[in-house]
Amino acid sequence: MGEMEDLCVTECERCPALVDSRSQIVNGTGPEDADILFVGEGPGAQEDSQGEPFVGRSGSVLDDQLRIVGLDRDTVRITNCVRCRPPENRDPTTDELENCRSYLEQEIELLDPDVIVTLGKVPTEHLLDRDVAVTKEAGSVEDVRVNGTPRRLLICVHPAATLYDRSQEETFESALERAAELAGVDGSENTSGQTRLDGF
Ligand code: URA
Repeated sequence: MGEMEDLCVTECERCPALVDSRSQIVNGTGPEDADILFVGEGPGAQEDSQGEPFVGRSGSVLDDQLRIVGLDRDTVRITNCVRCRPPENRDPTTDELENCRSYLEQEIELLDPDVIVTLGKVPTEHLLDRDVAVTKEAGSVEDVRVNGTPRRLLICVHPAATLYDRSQEETFESALERAAELAGVDGSENTSGQTRLDGF
C-alpha cells in the first residue's frame, strides 16, 4: 500500500473517445517492488470488463510463457500505455498515448524496475520514440531515458503475435528468458538473487 496508490488512476477524462468506449480505467497490477515491468498497448474487452491488464487470451499466453521461464505472474508488474479500452480495439492515437504518458512515467518511477519489457510495437515505439521492427528486434536491450531517468528496456513481441504465428513463440520465450536473466530472477538457473545491472 502507500506509494502505488499514487499511480492508481481513479478519474481521468483526458481522452473523450476512450471515456466513451471504456467501462472502467484499467490500472497496472502486481507488486510495488517488482523487478520486471511489462508494458502492453491498452486494455481489450476482457481487461475492460475485469479491470486488470492481460486477463484475456493474450494474458493466458503471457502467463504460460512466464511460467515456462520460471517467472510467476504474481511476482511481476503488468501495465499498459493507455489505461482505457480504445473503441473496436483500435490502436491508441498519438494524442491518447501522450495523454496517458504521465501515468506510465509515474508508475515506472515509483516501481523503479530492473527492466521494462515492452510487449509489441505500440509500447516499444512509444517508449523508444522511434520506428521499431519488433519481430526483428525482439530480445534486444536498450537504454532509454524515461522522464529523465535512464532505464533498461527489453523489446518483446506482443503475446497475441504467437497466436497468429507459431514461430513467434520461440521469439517470445527467449525474450522472457532474457528479462528474467536481466532482473536476476531466473527461477531455474540463477538462484543467487543478484541483479546483473552493475555498471549501468
Ligand atoms: N493487449 C494489451 O496490449 N494489453 C492488455 O492489457 C491486453 C491485451
